[in-house]
Amino acid sequence: MNIAVIGTGYVGLVSGTCFADSGNDVTCVDIDKKKVDQLRDGEIPIYEPGLETLFSRGLREGRLHFTTDMDRAVSNADIVFLCLPTPPGGDGQADLSAVMQVAGELGSLIEDYTVIVNKSTVPVGTGDRVEEAVAENVDRERFDVVSNPEFLREGAAVDDFMYPERVVIGTDSDRAAEIMTTLYEPFVRSGNPIIVMDRRSSELTKYAANAMLATKITFMNEIANICEKVGANVDNIRRGIGTDSRIGKRFLFAGIGYGGSCFPKDVQAIHYTAAQNGYDFKILDSVMKVNESQKISIVKKMEEYYETTDFSGMTFGVWGLSFKPETDDIREAPALYIADELTERGAKLLAYDPEAIGTFKQATSPKVLDNTTFVHDQKAALDNIDALVICTEWNEFRRPTVDNFADEMKQPIIFDGRNLYDLERARKAGITYISVGRPAINVPERKKLENSL
Ligand code: UDX
Repeated sequence: MNIAVIGTGYVGLVSGTCFADSGNDVTCVDIDKKKVDQLRDGEIPIYEPGLETLFSRGLREGRLHFTTDMDRAVSNADIVFLCLPTPPGGDGQADLSAVMQVAGELGSLIEDYTVIVNKSTVPVGTGDRVEEAVAENVDRERFDVVSNPEFLREGAAVDDFMYPERVVIGTDSDRAAEIMTTLYEPFVRSGNPIIVMDRRSSELTKYAANAMLATKITFMNEIANICEKVGANVDNIRRGIGTDSRIGKRFLFAGIGYGGSCFPKDVQAIHYTAAQNGYDFKILDSVMKVNESQKISIVKKMEEYYETTDFSGMTFGVWGLSFKPETDDIREAPALYIADELTERGAKLLAYDPEAIGTFKQATSPKVLDNTTFVHDQKAALDNIDALVICTEWNEFRRPTVDNFADEMKQPIIFDGRNLYDLERARKAGITYISVGRPAINVPERKKLENSL
């Protein structure tokens, strides 16, 4: 099939590349000429495992094209995917200006029957608005607007796209449903379902999925907070409840809060949609509040440990800046908030991340930049520090296991926001180890007492 993908951001690029790899002819369109030139030259602007191989193959074999010329791409296409940014607007609602702008132009470009697919995460009812906008310039019989939310995880997007657990297609049109089903069939050979439903339900499905997952994580973070108060271990509780298939094993890891470009934005957006429709989505109110405080909970533990809110004269190593491993994305990353809080309290930082130093530097505050030295080796971030703060669970951080820290660090004190290490090993290695929802290890008796008060 001929496919046009409008927008070469994260979703557009992954979708376009994967559709090309399954034999379609894909033209990706972007208004940013510099980006298009880069892509044509084979340069991928994002870090995503596995993408490069598929991307180079698509370019080499002539199935993947990049252009700024939307007219040609759309007029040749059987399917047009809208993969445009929907950032949070000032009021918590997704900002649809990019989507509506393109929708306004599409009508005059469509020639034969075309399926227009909304892949961006958009509020319920956006499909109707896009349909109206397109229909201003072309007959309604010549197109259908379909909702087809993406459920890609950053860092695993190619796998998620190639082997989706489900594909959701929102449309009332049999013709559009058939075209979309044909397109996705190669991706669900393993028997996973393509679920066709009405457009509004499909739009809401995406928000419901992300809000449910954010709630699941937040629930575990609250259990972890209680564990710290009562001397229980959240790892044991995770195992104890995750074996119940109604709960499931995944997404039960307590930590320093969820981040990224999706969960925070989508939770806020569905909360807003509910409010607009006269419904107070109370549970999500709590989820947002708990997540805010969870992001800096590690700083509170450091204050308790050092018995001061003034960290002047102290230097902390920071391992991990991205919001999660296997990505350079720092949007809503806990590390951004933690770095702000620590430097606000006078600390200096020695920070390392395998991929995200560049993106972090662009996003963080001048104060953090002034007080942080970035290093390109994880060991260098241990040099002469007062303690190590772990913000992201990159696999390489598991490697020099906790046993080695005592030799590498001036003072082996670790504040771990991701529960990377085994408590017994930390105890034996003589490391002061304070993690999330688990007993603090090798903390002087006096401090333990205060913690439990
Ligand atoms: C998410 C959804 O998983 C995906 O389906 C959707 O389309 C986009 O949003 P992503 O943002 O890439 O994907 O990240 P994900 O792996 O889901 O993690 C989100 C956040 O939750 C991260 O900050 C992660 O650290 C945190 N998390 C995840 C936990 O704190 N505990 C867990 O058990 C799982």
